[in-house]
Amino acid sequence: MDSASIGAPASSCSTPSNSAVIEHNHSDIFDDDSDYASGFDSYPSSLISSGTLASRNVNGRRYFSRRQVDYSLPYDEEEEVRLDLLHRIWTLTLEGRMFKAPITGSPDKILDVGAGTGLWAVDVAERYPDAHVFGTDIAPSKLPWTPPNLDMQLEDIEDDWVFPESTFDLIHVRSMVCFVTDWPRLLTQSLAALKPGGYIEFHDFSPPFECEDGSLAPSSVLSLWVKTWQEGAALSGRECGTVGPGMPAMMRAAGFENVVDEECKIPLTGEKPQDKRLREMCMCMLRQLLDGAEGRTLDMFIRVLGWGKEDVEDLIARVRSEMLNSEANTFSRVYIVYGRKPL
Ligand SMILES: C[S@@+](CC[C@H](N)C(=O)[O-])C[C@H]1O[C@@H](n2cnc3c(N)ncnc32)[C@H](O)[C@@H]1O
Repeated sequence: MDSASIGAPASSCSTPSNSAVIEHNHSDIFDDDSDYASGFDSYPSSLISSGTLASRNVNGRRYFSRRQVDYSLPYDEEEEVRLDLLHRIWTLTLEGRMFKAPITGSPDKILDVGAGTGLWAVDVAERYPDAHVFGTDIAPSKLPWTPPNLDMQLEDIEDDWVFPESTFDLIHVRSMVCFVTDWPRLLTQSLAALKPGGYIEFHDFSPPFECEDGSLAPSSVLSLWVKTWQEGAALSGRECGTVGPGMPAMMRAAGFENVVDEECKIPLTGEKPQDKRLREMCMCMLRQLLDGAEGRTLDMFIRVLGWGKEDVEDLIARVRSEMLNSEANTFSRVYIVYGRKPL
């Protein structure tokens, strides 16, 4: 099989239709009194006053909860490195662009929903120094430095939003599919928070891993791992596989217009692409999955699905081995979807 059939050509994406719970005061890692944003509007955080993160230790990895949110990925340095690798993958996927929505001129206010380590928010703040950028997350930001026009704010995006109506020119939502219980509500709140003519833009992976040449056996550990993880997410009220393909329809139903959607494929196992950009995307995907396999699996399989620790450790080892050795030509499908709030 030639490399072109493994993933989309370099230049084209297609446009189709047991746990210990510890309470942490986060004041040591989050400067609530930051005055970086002086001169810009600011909004009261819905979470900032609650002051505590409940964290749980699962087999040596740290996870946390806030109110009703049991976030199933870790909150530690290894996960930060993985998220930064994901940022690289997205930057390569978008060929250096921060977003694809046709925003002309310099946006005034931008929101990054579930900002994670904040690299997208930092990049966009530096690219648009006259814009005021907000990054929200249930976890406090650990950025050592933020540009003066960026506010990292503690918010549960499934709560009522604190931002006034018609505030933002752009709302960016990336890598959140398995972590939101009510997408229609998120889209409705985004529509309200956008200015007329403003855009929402969604970037995400869509599990499971796919293969178009039949080289992925149904008994593949990789497939079973993702399928079982998705079952755990569904038990926690979060659907994964239907969100990306369903996003254009969900945006239209929420009231967005001029909705545009693209699909790309990021190669994973099997034959490696010749194209330099695709090859780097593939290598970064493998790295972040190998590094992230433990963190992604422990909490979901032990706490949510009730697996035993040894079975989970065995699964993680087999998943890693298959990622490194499989000859199946698998890829991850990603969705890029944006839509405009009517004028
Ligand atoms: C997989 S990471 C993606 C981070 C970032 N969007 C990116 O692309 O690098 C998911 C992020 O969503 C955050 N998150 C999960 N549930 C959330 C919620 N209900 N409200 C706000 N943030 C949430 C997590 O803390 C984590 O930082």
